[in-house]
Amino acid sequence: MTYLVIGATGNVGGELVPQLLEQGHEVRALVRDASRAERLPAGTGIAVGDLDDAESLTAAARGADGVFYMQLAPLPAQAQYMVQAAKTAGVSKIVLLSSLGTVLWPLPMIGARIAARDEVFRQSGLDVTYLRANGLMSNALGWVPSIRDEGRVLDATDPGQQGVVDPYDVARIGALALTQDGHAGHGYILNGPQALTAREQVETLAEVLGRPVEFVPVTPGEFARHSLEHGTPPEMAGAVQNLNELFRASRAGVLTDDITNLTGLAPRTFRQWAEHHTDAFK
Ligand SMILES: NC(=O)c1ccc[n+]([C@@H]2O[C@H](COP(=O)([O-])OP(=O)(O)OC[C@H]3O[C@@H](n4cnc5c(N)ncnc54)[C@H](OP(=O)(O)O)[C@@H]3O)[C@@H](O)[C@H]2O)c1
Repeated sequence: MTYLVIGATGNVGGELVPQLLEQGHEVRALVRDASRAERLPAGTGIAVGDLDDAESLTAAARGADGVFYMQLAPLPAQAQYMVQAAKTAGVSKIVLLSSLGTVLWPLPMIGARIAARDEVFRQSGLDVTYLRANGLMSNALGWVPSIRDEGRVLDATDPGQQGVVDPYDVARIGALALTQDGHAGHGYILNGPQALTAREQVETLAEVLGRPVEFVPVTPGEFARHSLEHGTPPEMAGAVQNLNELFRASRAGVLTDDITNLTGLAPRTFRQWAEHHTDAFK
């Protein structure tokens, strides 16, 4: 079988490509710039294109048996392009990287935007599976500059817990939904095995890296002011503040066993993620 992977150089897509190849499938990666293909495993097919370019998506989807779809920002127009491209190319199966935030109530601001994007797919008539990921463990890569330069992490979610998930495990469910029948219309809530505070994640990172990392708790409001001073657009700073308030209240501390239930294998711990990514913090 042949699968088109959007975001193949990203966190989840980057884990999905080798898993599909190892399972003996053909993989076609959508890349915006052909030079990015160097990052992909040998044997990966390449389609140069862009989520903003409907024709490139149609060409990339032709002959594929399914599409793994993700977006950086949940723009409904890009989702419409993908729906149209899939229909024109005759591909019915879409595995969509969505978010736990789409099923929390009241909806977080960012969750509402992702839910509106998901609605484009829900109304498409295509066979869509929704991967409702909790916070990705790879978000900790955002701490790399301050750990490297200042030996500290500024965080506005303490003491809230989050069921952070390794992108590797999100990709395992992505591969399963692409390659097996019976997942269309389903939404899976994907989390790691533990609900952790950011402070606990930072402590684990410090242990794995073998050097001290100071944890500096700030309020969501202080964090938003700090982001605004560093050039974050007000709308984004407000949405992140809303998310941090929700995290602080442990609203994303929910744990399901969907990953174990679907695969028979427990998801990886944050410590395992950290051990696999020490190079990024050097
Ligand atoms: N971060 C979280 O905690 C979290 C939790 C739940 C759900 N999610 C969902 O996961 C997604 C983002 O995950 P992430 O932050 O980890 O992203 P990421 O994987 O780092 O995304 C980057 C990827 O997107 C590709 N890309 C970006 N814009 C593109 C465009 N216009 N056309 C084609 N490809 C494009 C990039 O390709 P290039 O190589 O060309 O740059 C790269 O492969 C979002 O949909 C978000 O809602 C995230």
